[in-house]
Amino acid sequence: MERTESTQDTTAFNMPDWMQIQFADQKREFNKRPTKIGRRSLSRSISQSSTDSYSSDSSDDETSPRDKQQKNSKGSSDFCVKNIKQAEFGRREIEIAEQEMPALMALRKRAQGEKPLAGAKIVGCTHITAQTAVLIETLGALGAQCRWAACNIYSTLNEVAAALAENGVAVFSWKGESEDDFWWCIDRCVNVEGWQPNMILDDGGDLTHWIYKKYPNMFKKIKGIVEESVTGVHRLYQLSKAGKLCVPAMNVNDSVTKQKFDNLYCCRESILDGLKRTTDMMFGGKQVVVCGYGEVGKGCCAALKAMGSIVYVTEIDPICALQACMDGFRLVKLNEVIRQVDIVITCTGNKNVVTREHLDRMKNGCIVCNMGHSNTEIDVASLRTPELTWERVRSQVDHVIWPDGKRMVLLAEGRLLNLSCSTVPTFVLSITATTQALALIELYNAPEGRYKQDVYLLPKKMDEYVASLHLPTFDAHLTELSDEQAKYLGLNKNGPFKPNYYRY
Ligand SMILES: NC(=O)c1ccc[n+]([C@@H]2O[C@H](COP(=O)([O-])OP(=O)(O)OC[C@H]3O[C@@H](n4cnc5c(N)ncnc54)[C@H](O)[C@@H]3O)[C@@H](O)[C@H]2O)c1
Repeated sequence: MERTESTQDTTAFNMPDWMQIQFADQKREFNKRPTKIGRRSLSRSISQSSTDSYSSDSSDDETSPRDKQQKNSKGSSDFCVKNIKQAEFGRREIEIAEQEMPALMALRKRAQGEKPLAGAKIVGCTHITAQTAVLIETLGALGAQCRWAACNIYSTLNEVAAALAENGVAVFSWKGESEDDFWWCIDRCVNVEGWQPNMILDDGGDLTHWIYKKYPNMFKKIKGIVEESVTGVHRLYQLSKAGKLCVPAMNVNDSVTKQKFDNLYCCRESILDGLKRTTDMMFGGKQVVVCGYGEVGKGCCAALKAMGSIVYVTEIDPICALQACMDGFRLVKLNEVIRQVDIVITCTGNKNVVTREHLDRMKNGCIVCNMGHSNTEIDVASLRTPELTWERVRSQVDHVIWPDGKRMVLLAEGRLLNLSCSTVPTFVLSITATTQALALIELYNAPEGRYKQDVYLLPKKMDEYVASLHLPTFDAHLTELSDEQAKYLGLNKNGPFKPNYYRY
């Protein structure tokens, strides 16, 4: 992907006092770790709540939320969720997430009184989970008004959406939206009388695309876009290249604190969870092919290798391919292994990586899933033909059956496995969410002229600040440069500590 990234001189970048790295011997008011018992009980309640089928239940009613009249306890009906009565349960999930999101909680405290987002009207389109709820409520605590839709039709936790709605957030989202619902929800966030967004927080670019298509005039008031995903960022660079980007945009996806933590560590932890919950399979000795050896692919491969799977990798980029080889994986073409593998995982962000031809050649019982952003990597549409039978065997698990009886196990209909079928570790999401919050603060408060109609990376100092806010959780003590060392290395003692081109 060709990128015309603007390079910023981050050394000249000044952060407000409350946004400074604190070193070990300085007072750390946010260094409150949960007790051991607290932690254990937390993780238990997280996993318990996530295996409960609370939000995916089909229990009470099948009425579309669009056809329901609901009000929160303050009488507002400016939201659309599955069931507002689930708010209390959702609130408990949000409170649990808050414990694992120390940096956002720190931001809330540090910025007290300053309200760096006062006057900001943020329209957001992200996964709606307990973790994003903590982000949304942090933005509120920092002074912003928020309206929110989901960026994925399956990943919304209904009880969390209900808790947000109960707390006054205009949220439009539920698990299992149709394609039409999806765009309707986005539209309800944007197309409101007497309210116009001045900031966008997007994950995947759908919201940005909708505003471009339907309400281009809104960009007159919009101060900036913060985009989280590879796919969305790609769209922004395309707009920029075509000279059509009319506001500054912050590429959060390529900030170090997103790439190295969210994509890699998050997927390393959640790939197994998603596969286990849907298939109950054992991984030891299974043959797995992972398509794409970027950050997500690396995380998936590492987790599966640790479980004793035999892992093959496909790549188009010789550098990532060489990394896969050096990490001990067999680099193959998909054709070469498709007949023998037990699991196929896509993580390329590309389209038609697994074609109908591949699917036809797979062995009986092969599991096919996607960890990339959208549902384009596996050609699922090609399976909707009369000779193939689809059988839903459990939630998010379909068997596609060929005329000769061969079955393929398709997870989450080719959409993102870990977000559709498992939960993802809150702490890692905390890192990304903090990066997003800081990007919004930066774009919203930047003096005229600092950012043009282009795509920017978060200043490195802020990236470092995000990481520093998470260190107290580990009781980690950061070493401070001495004056002499700082001079020797030519660095400011408070960062940035690495040049922009450093790759970590
Ligand atoms: N599941 C999650 O929780 C999660 C988290 C972060 C990102 N993502 C998504 O995962 C996707 C990958 O993210 P990433 O950070 O690893 O991106 P990346 O760019 O680092 O990696 C993608 C890799 O796929 C390779 N690739 C492209 N086309 C290919 C093909 N046809 N065959 C084989 N390899 C191919 C690229 O060369 C690249 O190395 C993106 O769509 C991103 O939005 C998912």
